[in-house]
Amino acid sequence: MNTIAVINQKGGVGKSTTALAIGAGLILKGYRTLFIDLDAQGNLTYTLGATTKGYNALGVLQRPETAREEIQHTKQGDIIASSPALAGADTLITQTGKEYRLKEALETIAGEYDYCIIDTPPALGIITINALTACTGAIIPSQADIYSLQGISQLNSTIETVRKYCNPSLSIMGIVLTRFNGRSIIRREVAEMLEQTAEQLHTKLFKSRIRECTALVEAQATKQSIYKYSPKSNATADYKALVNEILGEE
Ligand SMILES: Nc1ncnc2c1ncn2[C@@H]1O[C@H](COP(=O)(O)OP(=O)(O)OP(=O)(O)O)[C@@H](O)[C@H]1O
Ligand SMILES: [Mg+2]
Repeated sequence: MNTIAVINQKGGVGKSTTALAIGAGLILKGYRTLFIDLDAQGNLTYTLGATTKGYNALGVLQRPETAREEIQHTKQGDIIASSPALAGADTLITQTGKEYRLKEALETIAGEYDYCIIDTPPALGIITINALTACTGAIIPSQADIYSLQGISQLNSTIETVRKYCNPSLSIMGIVLTRFNGRSIIRREVAEMLEQTAEQLHTKLFKSRIRECTALVEAQATKQSIYKYSPKSNATADYKALVNEILGEE
């Protein structure tokens, strides 16, 4: 099973939107895909129409052996959902080996899926560390602004710590530009700077850039995947290109 964590401690950069679009894109291509919503905000859980009642992802972090029973099957795909109590994970998950809970959980279901897509909260706490420890690769969504650039450098030190202590084979698959507007000069300039930042992190800026696109917001409001809601939108084209790039099928 290929496990991809979508991470960025900066809020509102397009993590949930990107996690959803990558997972839905993989499902369209016929891959058996499991979503994991590790954000207490529950955006993925909402869009897939899963319930936040029950132990869900927090239960899995506390008792990794329960992973299989916490999977919900929805029309849009399988998900281990979020719940509001996940917000307390940093104080609840403190035992020795706390970084490895999700990794252990995923090992019990790895034969059943081709891909696992993990959405993470905008923080660098125990949840994001679990996601980075459990994943084979991480994707960093970012907007083209200076604060985002600054945030990625901070993120890199967490990634290096996880590599050193918990997951030596962790790879950063790439940075993906979201809500991109190519007409703005400053955005283009920052995109170039992001390319350099990516190089410093020994990764790449994905060639596929996700343009600013209202259809994405509408799709989320109506709990549909972008591919179904608006097959001809820029976002559909951009996310399809991103999925192909991830699969090496450009
Ligand atoms: N390409 C886009 N075009 C237009 N709106 C977008 C695009 N990508 C994301 N958005 C919108 O931007 C907002 C933030 O996106 P999203 O929730 O995916 O970010 P996030 O990084 O998951 O946020 P958080 O850190 O709070 O979890 C959402 O309202 C989403 O609909
Ligand atoms: Mg989110």
